[in-house]
Amino acid sequence: MSLRFRLIGLVCLALVVSLALGGATAWVNASRSVRTEMRSALLVGRQTIESAIERLQEASDPSRDLEELVASFEGNRHLQVRFIGEAQAVAAPVAESPRFGAVPRWFVRVIGVVPITDRVPITIGGHDYGAIALETDPHNEILEVWNEFTDSLVTPAVFSSLTILLIYLFVGRALRPLEALAEALEQVGDGRYRTRIGGRLAPELARLRDSFNRMAARLASADMENKRLNEQLLTLQEQERSELARDLHDEVSPFLFAINIDAASASRMLREGRVTEARNHVQSIADAVRPMQRQVRSMLGRLRPVGLDEFGLREAIENMIAFWRRRRPEIRYQLGISAGCEGLGELMGGTICRVVQEALSNAIRHARPTLITVSIDRQGEEVWVGITDDGRGMSEPSRPGYGLVGIGERVRALGGRLSFSNKPGEGFAVAAVLPCSCRREVACVSVQAMEP
Ligand SMILES: Nc1ncnc2c1ncn2[C@@H]1O[C@H](COP(=O)(O)OP(=O)(O)OP(=O)(O)O)[C@@H](O)[C@H]1O
Ligand SMILES: [Mg+2]
Repeated sequence: MSLRFRLIGLVCLALVVSLALGGATAWVNASRSVRTEMRSALLVGRQTIESAIERLQEASDPSRDLEELVASFEGNRHLQVRFIGEAQAVAAPVAESPRFGAVPRWFVRVIGVVPITDRVPITIGGHDYGAIALETDPHNEILEVWNEFTDSLVTPAVFSSLTILLIYLFVGRALRPLEALAEALEQVGDGRYRTRIGGRLAPELARLRDSFNRMAARLASADMENKRLNEQLLTLQEQERSELARDLHDEVSPFLFAINIDAASASRMLREGRVTEARNHVQSIADAVRPMQRQVRSMLGRLRPVGLDEFGLREAIENMIAFWRRRRPEIRYQLGISAGCEGLGELMGGTICRVVQEALSNAIRHARPTLITVSIDRQGEEVWVGITDDGRGMSEPSRPGYGLVGIGERVRALGGRLSFSNKPGEGFAVAAVLPCSCRREVACVSVQAMEP
């Protein structure tokens, strides 16, 4: 059932209950007052007759006086008076006309007051003149109560009708924005994040509208960011694959080709008994295998940080620094790793390595530094990674690359945060804070290679 009809139902229920309570109270009061009225009418009638009989003790014609006495009750609202004697006079009560039609039988039954009778014997001057019978007639009193009852129903009936009408109109109007909100939520659920709710609303609903609009805007920007990242990821993957293919083609294929030729020549010469020449070809094969091994190892290193699995984080970072020290020995490198940074797990360790790798490579490629400092510090449930150089800093505007964006994504995927500090002419710093309790579901984020 709709909210509107539920509310109306509740109001009706409250009205019915209050009417029932009011009706019960009115019934008790009405029944009591009719009964009291009848009793007092009977009592007054009896007293009137008794005092009249006392006065008639010396009367010369009591029969005529008694008839007049009975006739004096004519028009009484509640009593029917009869003379039971020689003259059988009857005085009936006046019947009042009803305002709202005849009193219904059920109402008379509900009031439950039946006529009561009395009898006054008449003895005047020692002579028995019969008796006067009195009988109450509650009809007029019940009619009065019925008129009051119907009068009292008019106000609640008008009030209830008005209340129900107002609730119907107001609730319908108040619910209209909620229907719009439900529709808008459905649209957002279907991926239409540009949906917004407008218009003037009550303050409570305006808050809801603003929150919805903010949520939809955030979803829209997250959706756009997601698409952008996906595109970037695909680009990076393509770039990575083409680099690997190029390396395999340029660095490995020629050696394989040479090994193939050397192996064929060695085999032929051994068949011809030219052992010394064959040995030279075998040596050539060994010479070709060594650079190939180096190349394959370097490619593997790009796919996974060298030494992380086997020797741990410290060794992997030292390998990276050694890599650059061999190529750029004029730069000083400082490394500090605090206790508790081992055993952080493959995902966390891999991410730290990638951050250090990219920041080191950036410093050497872009900054011309004399000193690069790498620090990895465990602080409670967080690991703080910092890479600082004293180079020339980032020039404005700088060309956006994939490196910083990539490590930012890796760090955020683990629930961490990445920040940069740039001092033109004085250096550049990269800082990452990673929570140790990174969630399992992000473990699917693969650790991708970045060229050193
Ligand atoms: N340590 C640094 N000192 C000075 N400038 C830096 C430093 N690190 C980054 N930059 C600037 O920030 C830019 C963006 O760096 P980012 O690593 O994202 O891209 P990139 O290194 O140019 O290319 P790649 O996508 O290959 O990493 C760089 O082009 C460079 O201008
Ligand atoms: Mg870079």
